[in-house]
Amino acid sequence: MGEIILDVVNQRTAFPTKRGMLQAVNGVNLTLERGRTLGVVGESGSGKSVLARSIMGLLPRAAQTGPGSSVHLNGRDLTALSERELRPIRGREVSTVFQDPMTALNPTLTVGAQLIEGLRHHLGMPKRAARARAIELLRSVGLPQPETRVDQFPHQLSGGMRQRVAIAIAISCEPDLLIADEPTTALDVTVQAEILDLLQRQVRERNMAMILITHDMGVVAVRCDDVAVMYAGRIVEQAPVRELFQRTRMPYTAALLSSIPRITDGPHRRLDAIGGRPPDLIHPPAGCAFAPRCKFASDPCQGVMPALEGDERHRFACHTPLQVEAVA
Ligand SMILES: Nc1ncnc2c1ncn2[C@@H]1O[C@H](COP(=O)(O)OP(=O)(O)OP(=O)(O)O)[C@@H](O)[C@H]1O
Ligand SMILES: [Mg+2]
Repeated sequence: MGEIILDVVNQRTAFPTKRGMLQAVNGVNLTLERGRTLGVVGESGSGKSVLARSIMGLLPRAAQTGPGSSVHLNGRDLTALSERELRPIRGREVSTVFQDPMTALNPTLTVGAQLIEGLRHHLGMPKRAARARAIELLRSVGLPQPETRVDQFPHQLSGGMRQRVAIAIAISCEPDLLIADEPTTALDVTVQAEILDLLQRQVRERNMAMILITHDMGVVAVRCDDVAVMYAGRIVEQAPVRELFQRTRMPYTAALLSSIPRITDGPHRRLDAIGGRPPDLIHPPAGCAFAPRCKFASDPCQGVMPALEGDERHRFACHTPLQVEAVA
């Protein structure tokens, strides 16, 4: 076992709504070792972003967490810390890259000023050293002409360049954990692969851990070590990537996998959306939340919630798992 950076225990996050409490994340357990990338996948609304925000302590004020939830980062329980105690940890120990780089950038400050601020604040670097480091970081994320770009404002950059800057800011203080929530969705297809390459390289070179949130199983296949599949706020299947792809047990995971576009499909093939509607998170079904959409569902699936079971290597929550060949 490598060094454990992140340990999430029974994370539960709910939001009050007019119709009642909406349970967005419902008992998630996760551990992540240094140097590894965990892919978190699932349909829209399955709780991926709320999970990420719960880990970062970046939830709206009205959100309710627990009972019994904890998020340990480098051995310290973040849920026990005040906002003031959390601030120096964000950026320094954990940082994020979001879908829209503009959320991470301040439109009124130059790229350099934003990088330098973090370097001075978190690492106590003197101004000149921080500027030199900022240029170096911009170069390391592949921004062309970093010496000139450092003095430009975000609106002077393309979308792909802005995301590179956001990544430079996210890695600038060498965090142990990077959480990337659909970091390439807003970008051109050609730029997407470059940004994912960049993230992967940074994680490897800096020996960080990364959570890569996506709904693209194709991205998971080539970018991640392990996968957690989310449905209705829970992890319903979890395994190393190869194991998950070769020995898929949960019918929902199989449905997600069958939606990967193949090169031979041509550019305009529509993805097979999974039939049926996502569950109501305010009045969830008593049994498996996927049962109403599952062609394998039987009686216990409707009435009894399946637990996430299995061994270290492969866990799944299903009463009627897909059959796979036993491995010797
Ligand atoms: N501030 C909020 N108030 C109420 N409900 C919320 C809030 N934020 C998220 N939710 C609900 O929580 C559930 C999970 O949302 P979340 O954003 O985590 O989904 P996601 O898996 O990230 O989806 P996507 O793939 O579309 O980004 C959804 O039903 C969403 O409507
Ligand atoms: Mg999301």
